[in-house]
Amino acid sequence: MSNTVIEVKELKREYVSTKGLLKRNRRVVKAVDGVSFSVNRGEIFGLLGQNGAGKTTTVKMLTTLLAPTAGVCKVLGRDCFGEEKHIRSRINFIFGGEFGVYRRLSARDNLRYFAHLYLLDRKVSEARIEELLALTDLAERADDLAETYSKGMIQRLQIARGLINDPEILFMDEPTVGLDPVGARMLRDIIRRLKEQGRTVLLTTHYLQEAEELCDHMVIVNHGKVVAAGTPAEIRGHHRSLEDAYLALVGGEEHAAADD
Ligand SMILES: Nc1ncnc2c1ncn2[C@@H]1O[C@H](COP(=O)(O)OP(=O)(O)OP(=O)(O)O)[C@@H](O)[C@H]1O
Ligand SMILES: [Mg+2]
Repeated sequence: MSNTVIEVKELKREYVSTKGLLKRNRRVVKAVDGVSFSVNRGEIFGLLGQNGAGKTTTVKMLTTLLAPTAGVCKVLGRDCFGEEKHIRSRINFIFGGEFGVYRRLSARDNLRYFAHLYLLDRKVSEARIEELLALTDLAERADDLAETYSKGMIQRLQIARGLINDPEILFMDEPTVGLDPVGARMLRDIIRRLKEQGRTVLLTTHYLQEAEELCDHMVIVNHGKVVAAGTPAEIRGHHRSLEDAYLALVGGEEHAAADD
């Protein structure tokens, strides 16, 4: 079996935004503009970049939710557009923030609901749900309604939800956004455990230290294009920190000056 589980080549996605009906008000946004990278099985891969750089758009194409405008977009050797049936049962995704779980259900019932959607056998799913509640440290509150949970607990519940179909690849879009330092560390520990279990994780984050700590490889995208790729150490290069390298790459100094 190939070691490459995600393959992206010259990937593009444009959005056409219109204000009103006039054609001259049509504006084409090149959200992803010729991105290439590949991800190996079992690694944690980081997709970094400024707001609007094209990260979520890329993740949506990789998770078969959005069709590319052009280029190669393959997951587990299959085309994300056209062969999505073969991909969907073997991957899962979580988008940061508090979406994607039912607040009027308990953690356990949320997981039962999603297990049902994946047509999991009842015995298998009950055992897996216990495992996931333990992994995400939710066992004690598993029967309380999700609306009584803290943000950190909701985000951990999202991870449990994302693992319900035992995915080979988990896509995480800003999994630690809005978490306190303790919650964020807990989540990073969970992500590391996913890797130990042999899963592949692709994550986006704005926390450079987190990316440096977790990622085996990463790409930095800016205005829809890759501006750096490699291990965190390779990208840091001669800079004092990954943050310095990042700022140099995405023109942070320029931005800082413009803000004055
Ligand atoms: N549905 C849409 N229609 C029009 N433009 C869009 C749409 N979704 C995203 N865009 C634009 O595409 C570009 C890339 O957006 P995207 O959400 O992929 O960025 P991102 O890197 O995830 O940013 P962030 O860090 O803020 O989450 C932005 O310019 C955004 O405004
Ligand atoms: Mg985004």
